[in-house]
Amino acid sequence: MEDLRKPILPGKGASDYERYLRTDDLLSLQKRPEEFLHPDELTFQVVHQASELLMKGTAWELDRARVHIADGDFSNAARLLRRGNYMLEYPISVLHVLETITPVDYQLIRAGLGHGSGLDSPGFLALLHIGPRLGEAFHGQLLKAGLSVDDLYRRHQEFFGLHDVAERLLDFDERVHLFRFHHLKLAQRIIGGGVVGTMGTPVEVLHQRMEHLFYKELWDVRNRITAQANEAMQKSGVGPQY
Ligand code: HEM
Repeated sequence: MEDLRKPILPGKGASDYERYLRTDDLLSLQKRPEEFLHPDELTFQVVHQASELLMKGTAWELDRARVHIADGDFSNAARLLRRGNYMLEYPISVLHVLETITPVDYQLIRAGLGHGSGLDSPGFLALLHIGPRLGEAFHGQLLKAGLSVDDLYRRHQEFFGLHDVAERLLDFDERVHLFRFHHLKLAQRIIGGGVVGTMGTPVEVLHQRMEHLFYKELWDVRNRITAQANEAMQKSGVGPQY
């Protein structure tokens, strides 16, 4: 009988689990304890590395979603956008782990970062790259259907699939914004809001970058819906007051 514990996949590692996931390589990507500038450094590295992986996964799924949008397959686009957005929850929530590093201890870790800066994060740069391209694919479909953003939102039942895609794009925009918000708070807590980072960028710049939105038009349409409803209410004198 076949021994199911015996690995059959090629590669390093005693089991197929280790070989498939390449855990030997993955788990050797962190500094060894004798190299740490502070014992908190493992947490610092693991949080960054995990975030890079999850952002890589997110960007991949969002690019697949972009192809589905361009093909007019809105169900599959929304499914993959949802998946990408779920994945992006983790780089946001795991930022809180780093809030447990004290400002004084962080300075020891920071001394070993060279000019290393999150501005060069491949995962985040991939998200910044895919955001506008998703928007182009979405607007291409609006154009094809002869719709404005306002039409899509007013006639959401009729254009359910494309409206669903629009809402999932908004989820993505919100998550990138939330990442920036929690990251700014982290930087303010750990190094302070009035200093410059490892690449000479003032922390204040993080504040300005939070203003950036991929899909401003999807946020703005809500203002017009509310303004129109308010106008109608004023004319009729009835309706919801919130
Ligand atoms: C102790 C924790 C952290 C501190 C003190 C910190 C600090 C900073 C600072 C000061 C900047 C501005 C650029 C610079 O001069 O370096 C920056 C940018 C950035 N960092 Fe961090 N960071 C931390 C953790 C993280 C983590 C865990 C990630 C996850 C990948 C990350 C990703 C980024 C990104 C993507 C930017 C560019 C932000 C943007 O374009 O809006 N950082 N960080």
